[in-house]
Amino acid sequence: MKVVVTGGAGFIGSHLSRKLIHEGHEVVIIDELHPYYSINRKNRHLEFIKESGEFRFFQKSLIHNEKEVRDIFLSFQPEAVIHLAAIPGVPHSIEVPNEYVDYDIKATINALRFAGDSEAKQFIFASSSSVYGEQKNVPLEEEMATGRVVSPYAAAKFSAEAFCHAYASLFPYKVSILRFFTVYGPWGRPDMAITKFIKKLLAKEEITLFGKGTARDYTYIDDCVNGVLSAFNQKVRVGTYNIGSGKPIYLEELVDQLRMHFPELTVGQGAFRQGDVHSTWADIRKANEQLGYYPAVSFSEGLANTIEWAKKHETEIC
Ligand SMILES: NC(=O)c1ccc[n+]([C@@H]2O[C@H](COP(=O)([O-])OP(=O)(O)OC[C@H]3O[C@@H](n4cnc5c(N)ncnc54)[C@H](O)[C@@H]3O)[C@@H](O)[C@H]2O)c1
Repeated sequence: MKVVVTGGAGFIGSHLSRKLIHEGHEVVIIDELHPYYSINRKNRHLEFIKESGEFRFFQKSLIHNEKEVRDIFLSFQPEAVIHLAAIPGVPHSIEVPNEYVDYDIKATINALRFAGDSEAKQFIFASSSSVYGEQKNVPLEEEMATGRVVSPYAAAKFSAEAFCHAYASLFPYKVSILRFFTVYGPWGRPDMAITKFIKKLLAKEEITLFGKGTARDYTYIDDCVNGVLSAFNQKVRVGTYNIGSGKPIYLEELVDQLRMHFPELTVGQGAFRQGDVHSTWADIRKANEQLGYYPAVSFSEGLANTIEWAKKHETEIC
């Protein structure tokens, strides 16, 4: 199948593109190599993808190179568009909220339009667990997102989801809205807690915990990639699905597991960060029943793989 992956030079996009290529799909990656984090790291992602075979890469922006990107879509005629391109990160969204309107909303509108104009059959959107905001009841079911979010990043993702619904009524493609829950693994994004902690621990430095008693549904990257691929099984025209592990890991448990790999670990305490939620926990029954999604990697196994990778690579890349 012909597949466009926007944001394919990013963390999730590079793993996903490898798998798509490995499975024999024809892949076009569109990524502007945004400097939210090191461009060197994104170029390394592209080399990592190349190990699995041929693909085409266009360093273009969905918002700054609209015409060129539309032309790429029209000439390639993708059957599926997987839209991962966005600026991620809750704290940064508090500093520059308007950029999230451009990169997380407007870029999604353009991807939806170009996918429709090029007659794609399916549009898959990378949304986020952050759209649930703070909730009393867990696990989080798809219907529980009401727009009462707590960060500009989450507001942008929730709004982009609304545009997915709007364009699903304007074009005949299937639309899959996938809400990813804190994805980690080799090549993990350098602004995320697990990547940061491991890097600090390898340098024998103290790690800082923000808040106490918080929990995250950590999703191993291979499970996330399989979750995206499972969306190809979607039968309904528009579907929203949680892609998580289905199990919350408390911060204290994360520290205990890290201590097994780094017995010298020392911890500093920081304040709970504005814009964060206290806990996330995905109800994955819908994705399981309708898409056949099933996370296979336990947290201890995923963490061990990530640490093993970091020991080899994390010190030589920034
Ligand atoms: N990693 C997670 O835990 C997580 C959780 C929830 C949702 N998500 C979402 O999944 C997607 C992928 O996340 P990631 O962790 O791989 O992030 P990432 O930053 O590693 O990847 C995003 C990529 O998109 C590119 N990009 C951004 N704006 C662009 C534009 N306008 N045009 C072209 N390219 C552009 C960036 O250069 C980057 O390479 C994002 O939409 C993110 O919001 C990620």
